[in-house]
Amino acid sequence: MQPMTDTALYVQRRKHLQQKMPYGIAVIPTAPEVARNADTHYDYRHDSHFYYLSGFAEPESVLILIAGDEPQSILFCREKNAEREVWDGFRYGPDVAAERFGFDAAYPIELLDEKLVELMGNQPTLFYPIGGDWDVRLIKVREALKAKARTGIQAPNAIRDVRELLNEMRLFKDEHEVSIMRAAAQISCEAHRRAMRFTRPGQYEYEVEAELLHEFCRHGARHPAYTSIVAGGANACTLHYVGNNACLNEGDLLLIDAGCELGGYASDITRTFPVNGRFSAAQKDVYEIVLAAQAAAIAAARPVNTWNAPHEAALRVLAQGFIDLKLCKGSVEAVLESESYKQFYMHRTGHWLGMDVHDVGEYKVGGNWRPLQSGMVLTVEPGCYIRPSDSVPRDLWNIGIRIEDDVLITSNGSEVLTQAAPKTVKEIEEVMRHE
Ligand code: GLY
Ligand code: MN
Ligand code: MN
Repeated sequence: MQPMTDTALYVQRRKHLQQKMPYGIAVIPTAPEVARNADTHYDYRHDSHFYYLSGFAEPESVLILIAGDEPQSILFCREKNAEREVWDGFRYGPDVAAERFGFDAAYPIELLDEKLVELMGNQPTLFYPIGGDWDVRLIKVREALKAKARTGIQAPNAIRDVRELLNEMRLFKDEHEVSIMRAAAQISCEAHRRAMRFTRPGQYEYEVEAELLHEFCRHGARHPAYTSIVAGGANACTLHYVGNNACLNEGDLLLIDAGCELGGYASDITRTFPVNGRFSAAQKDVYEIVLAAQAAAIAAARPVNTWNAPHEAALRVLAQGFIDLKLCKGSVEAVLESESYKQFYMHRTGHWLGMDVHDVGEYKVGGNWRPLQSGMVLTVEPGCYIRPSDSVPRDLWNIGIRIEDDVLITSNGSEVLTQAAPKTVKEIEEVMRHE
């Protein structure tokens, strides 16, 4: 079989969605450009659903899919504009875009409302991402159609959220997606290794952040998938710390949660290592517990098990570890039952990963945790965050540790996509000593 070109892949995804609809019209807009201040904008990021179905990255674009006996796939996008292209760069324009991206037709974005009245007529169901900027606009189109009722044209009677269908498609990664996610993971592993080699006491968190960004960018991953967390010492106990402006002290740990976005796909890695290159005894005790919890969770991330199995596996190891460290009292069962572990581990053990760092897809189906299946990608990221407290041994104060990898579920187990980022105490100390 010939390998599929990118265009064939996107055409196939659109067909798949049309089959799932299987009647009606879907309106899927890309993301708007967002002003940062004055006349500068945040770096443009397309909408993930739109890009998943089109591969088209220009702003001001909308995809229309018509399902049923005469399926159509139509793009609305910016027209060619010689003057704007001098300032902002190339744009495809509808004609070339239709050809290059495999649409049945394409029109200038200015014609969208007018054409929509035409296209929506006599379609039984309107699918779109309900609850955003498009509610008012699409209801107006529907009202315009209703006003034509006496001419025999009917407006859609039903409205459904297209994401119900798309989220489920995106949850299962195809080979093309997995190959991009592998590449993104590899770059992020290199970045974590670079950060370990670079870090010394006296540096600032933002200096280490700069090393991460350098490594992402030099491999063509221009943007992080989320704001990097570079948290020295006590800052690691603030889960979403992004200040990244403190000095790194001798004797502290550094927690880095950072991953690049490549080709529209996220990677998401956390590593925690000593600023001076050597774990103290107390740091090592806590680290080994989190590492063992992660190993147990990764072992549980396989088909037949459900989404919640890795979390439950991690919790059991953490609960025993917290008892051993004198952070929690009682038996493992009692710690789990009372949830006393939540003082030190207050988040869950992972999330779906894909185009979005917290990717789409239901975690429960029919009220039950869903079984893990081949093609799903999730993170496995247990941690332990010990804030100062009279009830906590003093040598553990301000230790914050998380270890996070990206895991692809395969037909008979799993593949850790981020294996190349040093993780054991020995590996980390070796990288920091020799490189
Ligand atoms: N970096 C975001 C997360 O780990 O969920
Ligand atoms: Mn994560
Ligand atoms: Mn993360």
